[in-house]
Order: sequence, then structure tokens, then C-alpha cells
Amino acid sequence: MLGVCSLKGGVGKTSVTLGLASAAMTAGMRTLVVDLDPQADTTLALGATGAAAQDVAAVLDNPARYVVDSAIAASSWDPDLLEVLMGSADSVRHDGPTYEHRLHNLSTALSTLDEYDLVLVDCPPSLGGLTRQGLTACSRALVVTEPGLFSVTAAARAFQAIDTLRRGPAPALQPLGVVVNRVRARSSEQTYRQQELEGMFGPLILSPVIPERAAMQQAQGAGRAIHDWPGASATELAEGFDALLARAVRAMSET
Ligand SMILES: Nc1ncnc2c1ncn2[C@@H]1O[C@H](COP(=O)(O)OP(=O)(O)O)[C@@H](O)[C@H]1O
Ligand SMILES: [Mg+2]
Repeated sequence: MLGVCSLKGGVGKTSVTLGLASAAMTAGMRTLVVDLDPQADTTLALGATGAAAQDVAAVLDNPARYVVDSAIAASSWDPDLLEVLMGSADSVRHDGPTYEHRLHNLSTALSTLDEYDLVLVDCPPSLGGLTRQGLTACSRALVVTEPGLFSVTAAARAFQAIDTLRRGPAPALQPLGVVVNRVRARSSEQTYRQQELEGMFGPLILSPVIPERAAMQQAQGAGRAIHDWPGASATELAEGFDALLARAVRAMSET
């Protein structure tokens, strides 16, 4: 299970989750996307809104298999390969301070599922109960950042948070690396931030970086997978996500 986090909004957690889901679907992997963000953007983009009776908030209340089953819906991208554990505004109830027994509810819920080749967890932007529960259920975490000042410091805090969880309730959790998103080719400020990222995170920076491309927003707006979107920019993005997915799958098979 792979968690996608950062302690900042708008850097591209959902876009990276969707890109990886698109790559996994294209590779024929059975994939579940867990939408932990109360904004539920992922659920919307995957064409699953309103398609299940329950949602992730109910699963965090009670991680029993029957609740999990009633909160999972097929994605319109590919109903056979891709499913969504539905996000909802109601999950904000679980974002407060989390008691130790609650911290493992998502883990418990996901451990009853063995039909997936990959589980992706899209986290909200803060380090509240939801992100902590999400990461505790994961064996690997991707930190998403953009080459901007505040995003770089948020990425550093995200690594600290992963380390704290790892030394406490989530000993199996390991950082996979940093995805640098929304990279613009000609921006000296960005080049500076990218060098700063390399200085801070070194080999944890994953290759390739994801460029800023209108195709990302166009595909998302149309509710389509980037692998199914036409044009050279979409192909470039899709190939980037293929490489990141291959890296993640390799890392997860090592544990
Ligand atoms: N590489 C990219 N190129 C262009 N737009 C992007 C890119 N990555 C993200 N976006 C856009 O930026 C906005 C925020 O991204 P999102 O993935 O929702 O961030 P988060 O989940 O971290 O809040 C969305 O409108 C998304 O389409
Ligand atoms: Mg998001």
C-alpha cells in the first residue's frame, strides 16, 4: 500500500494519485484508491461520486468487512480494474487528535482485502488524524512537492512526520521518496528551489519530475485517465507516471 502525502494543499497529491492509478490500470493491475481527503476530489475525478452506499468515514468508524464493501465503488475509468474507497466531507470528523486504537482502523479495514495488486491512499494536506491513519496503513509513502519555498519546507515536515509514525505506531512505513510536481522548464526561481530540494533530499528525489502541463487539468476536468488523453503532453505525463509506478512497485516488493 502506497500513501501519497505532503503537508500542503494544491501541490498535486491528488494528481499524482490519479496519475499512478492511470498507470496501474494501463498495466492491468487491480487497484483500489482510498480517498481520505474530505474534499473528495479523487472520488469525483475517478467518476465514482454517489456510487456506493457508504464512504471512508463509515469505514473509519467501523472497519468491518461489510462496511468496507459498502464503501467501495467502481471507477468509470475501468470498472473491472479500478475501484475507489469513497471520500466524503464526513471524514473530517476523523481528522482530529486520534486515539491509538483509532489510528489502526484504516489498516484493519484494508487488511481484509486481498484482491488488489495495488492500494493507493490519497491524503489530505494536514497532519491530522486522517493523514496519520492513512500513512499508518501504508508500507511506503510518497511525498509530493512543487519547487516553491513553502512546498519545500512542507516536504521536509512530511518526512519528519513519516519518521515519527515509523518510530511509533507504523513501524512498517518507509518513505519512498519525493515527487517533484509542476516543474516549469524556464523559471530561475524554480531551478533554485529544485537545487535546494536536491540538497535537502538528495537520492530521495524520484525521477522523473512531473512537468506543469495543461493536459493534466484537462484530463482531470473531463474525468479521464491521463493515459487515455490525447496529445504529446499527456503522453509525456503518462510516461512519467509509468516510471514512478514501476519504482513504487519495485520498492513495495522488496518488503
Ligand atoms: N503537473 C501539473 N500540471 C498542471 N496542473 C497541475 C499539475 N499538477 C496538479 N495540477 C493542478 O493543480 C491543482 C491542484 O492539484 P491537486 O492534485 O488537486 O493537489 P492536492 O491534491 O495536493 O491538493 C489541480 O487543479 C490540478 O489539476
Ligand atoms: Mg487532493
